[in-house]
Amino acid sequence: MRIFMDTANIEEIRRGVTMGVVDGVTTNPSLVAKEGIEYRDRVLEICEVVQGPVSAECISETADALVEEARRIAEWHEHVVVKIAMTEPGLEAIRRVSAEGIRVNTTLIFSPNQALLAARAGATYVSPFIGRLNDIGHDGMAVVRESVKILENFHLPTQVLAASIRLPRDVTEAALVGSHVATIPADVLFQMVKHPLTDQGIDRFLADAQKYNAV
Ligand code: G3P
Repeated sequence: MRIFMDTANIEEIRRGVTMGVVDGVTTNPSLVAKEGIEYRDRVLEICEVVQGPVSAECISETADALVEEARRIAEWHEHVVVKIAMTEPGLEAIRRVSAEGIRVNTTLIFSPNQALLAARAGATYVSPFIGRLNDIGHDGMAVVRESVKILENFHLPTQVLAASIRLPRDVTEAALVGSHVATIPADVLFQMVKHPLTDQGIDRFLADAQKYNAV
């Protein structure tokens, strides 16, 4: 499973990339709004740091406007993947821009049927939002699992990108059900590195090493 970071914070992204495990980044208007910087400027900064796909979101609401916006955003940088929300005009726009070779991440996916439609329209990625489904008492991971199975059944090239991840356990489960990608908030990614027994083990090895170094 490939690992993307779900953040627009450049320092967090630098740290993740330095760690050597970050294959891409996803942003959205809410994440960039927290940074107090213009969307395009931040996406370009991220594209320089990450050698992989960087999702940037379209906010238009009609198919024609989405197509125009997607074309414009895709021009920003070769790493850019345009995010288009799962709506009827969105599907039309996905079909039209995918045919031009623009990569699309279909966002706000909450059912396997939505994932199937976006895949048939030509999306490169479909992003089921796990946490937001769990928040309303649904099983977010079931949407990831069923979407993966449907895409596999029909050999569709679209990749499932597990999004709205809140816990390290969500990442484990996304990997177990075969999600192609997980986009992970920075705090969750850095938590994944840690285990109390690892820290304890290092302390013990260091203490023992001092015994023979002292000899
Ligand atoms: O990638 C989508 C993600 O940013 C949504 O996460 O936590 O706002 O549901 P969240």
